[in-house]
Amino acid sequence: MIRVRVPGDKSISHRAALIAPLASSASVVRGLSDGADVRASVGAMRRLGAAVECEEEEGGLTIRCAGGGLEVASAPRLDCGNSGTTARLLAGILAGSGVPAVLDGDPSLRSRPMRRVIYPLQAMGARVEYDGEPERLPVRLRGRATGTLRTLRHRGRVASAQVKSAILLAGVLARVRVEVSEPALSRDHTERMLAEMGVPLAFDPGRTGAGEVRFDPSDWEGALEGLRMTVPGDPSSAAFLIGASLLGGRTVRVADVAANPGRIGFLSVLEAMGAGIDRDPAPTEGGEPRETWTVHPPDDLRAFSIGGDLIPRVIDEIPLLAVLAARARGRSEIRDAAELRVKESDRLAVLARTLGKLGVVVEEKPDGLTIQGRAGRLRGDVETRGDHRIAMAFGVLEAAGDADLRIDDRSCADVSYPDFWDALEPFRRGSPGGSPPRTGRVVAVDGPAASGKSSTARSVAQRLGFVHVNSGLLYRAITWWALDRGIAEDEPSIEAAVPGLDVDLVPAHDGFDVSVAGIRPGRGLESSEVTARVSAVSTLPAVREVVLERLRRAGRRHELVCEGRDIGTAVFPDAELKVFLVADVGERARRRLRQRAAPFTEDDLEREILRIEARDRLDRSRPLSPLRRAPDAIEIDTTSMSPDLVVDAILELAASAFR
Ligand code: S3P
Repeated sequence: MIRVRVPGDKSISHRAALIAPLASSASVVRGLSDGADVRASVGAMRRLGAAVECEEEEGGLTIRCAGGGLEVASAPRLDCGNSGTTARLLAGILAGSGVPAVLDGDPSLRSRPMRRVIYPLQAMGARVEYDGEPERLPVRLRGRATGTLRTLRHRGRVASAQVKSAILLAGVLARVRVEVSEPALSRDHTERMLAEMGVPLAFDPGRTGAGEVRFDPSDWEGALEGLRMTVPGDPSSAAFLIGASLLGGRTVRVADVAANPGRIGFLSVLEAMGAGIDRDPAPTEGGEPRETWTVHPPDDLRAFSIGGDLIPRVIDEIPLLAVLAARARGRSEIRDAAELRVKESDRLAVLARTLGKLGVVVEEKPDGLTIQGRAGRLRGDVETRGDHRIAMAFGVLEAAGDADLRIDDRSCADVSYPDFWDALEPFRRGSPGGSPPRTGRVVAVDGPAASGKSSTARSVAQRLGFVHVNSGLLYRAITWWALDRGIAEDEPSIEAAVPGLDVDLVPAHDGFDVSVAGIRPGRGLESSEVTARVSAVSTLPAVREVVLERLRRAGRRHELVCEGRDIGTAVFPDAELKVFLVADVGERARRRLRQRAAPFTEDDLEREILRIEARDRLDRSRPLSPLRRAPDAIEIDTTSMSPDLVVDAILELAASAFR
């Protein structure tokens, strides 16, 4: 059985980030999602002058809010990034509080409909202008037209938690009566949180079918009480890991997930597909039920048919369900899901096109899909359109094996689940040891000491728009740490400690920096003590294993120019382009001495040649991943080439390798 936890629920985290700062007393909320979407909500509240402190802790973000509301000098521009929830809930908050601001977002968010939230707010008396295209972001909210907002009775044509939340927040903050009904109940996290904070709301938690909620301010003294809770795990994130376990035939236990009935419709779909699900409830917190689930895979997944008022309760899981349908026995059907066309991408179109390209028989309808499941190998490109749920759904398909997919953008998962690709590893068929997928292309640059790898790799990365990474950084960081701990000569101690060592590449402005045990050694990595010890430390198997894993992890997130001595042979044996730089030892010694920018004698040169030859011998003779040219690497002898010529030669090779 695979046991997992998933990051805090995104929908609840947004609401905590946006509503807790509006309370009249202090709040502490733990376990928030640390994805880019929720960070956009926290950032926006800060820009609005809310007192919010945010800290990364084990288990997610913690926010502490002093309470007291919003304060702006002039209308700030609020960047909602990719997050519809941030933009739409904020529209309600700005309208209700009368605080002026401009809401904006990335190109995907700018293309999504805002009318559904702006019209009702205008009907309440909010003053709104479009800074760009009508009914799209950027939208300027200019405070209230009259003293306060008007009461509103809204009958929604589509079920939308974001619209419902915006109207409720506007009503509560302006203290006017509002009523919202929807054809099918959407998630009710806003209702539950507001009720928890003392707001008198009439609603029926967790009911299914048509939904209705009413806020009536009479007899309410009008203060939101502070909020204290830990956000439960995100069922939408859990769904991907559960999907991977079903396709891979493994049992999975997901601890402490939000079990709000408005969110977990997918469990009944998985049951219909044959999965066995045990649900173990935990105490409710912040008005939100939570559970631990154990999911057992069936021998064979069956097709499903969904539509009607179930759709709002599975809305974010449909990309995953569509991918499972592609591997189920029979023809699955998804109806009444036209809302998917206005998510982070037009998900119906993207799913139909992508599954179709992979060889699955799919029919796209105006409001749904039919998908004929099939066995056998699936091959092709996945264009995610920057949509996190599309990337993760196809990641699940790929992890199950029998699929060679090129997913164009894996990093978009960061908006909801930054560690998704690592979390998926245990579910990968053949894991551990399976070759992990990469974001995209890798150029491997190997070669002996002083062959010009670093300067070449850095320039090539810059010209290709890739990220430069030097495996030597990690070996040096571990050596630096071993010296610092006084165990640099004690190889068994290094080997024992290194698997649990907190060492990793951290993005820096022109590539990666490295951090070890919470410290960035910076120039300390270049010290003569580190240089003297690094080749011995880098022969230790445990050290090599850690370094290899960190480099591959970087490869799952970025396009890389990766340099070292075993990149093309051991780290990325499937790199799209491998080059092996060599140069005459005399020339290498001269280059190294010239780098020091001080005059040197023939004796200095002789000594440097001996040093480099010794290092070459060590690198070539070590038992694990010795320095050697991969059979498919292209050797470039740089002895009489200028650095620019070497870079040009590699770019030319890249142009044909990437075609
Ligand atoms: C959300 C509501 C849903 C959902 C989205 C998050 C929320 O959208 O798809 O991912 O947190 O309120 P709609 O409100 O458009 O249904």
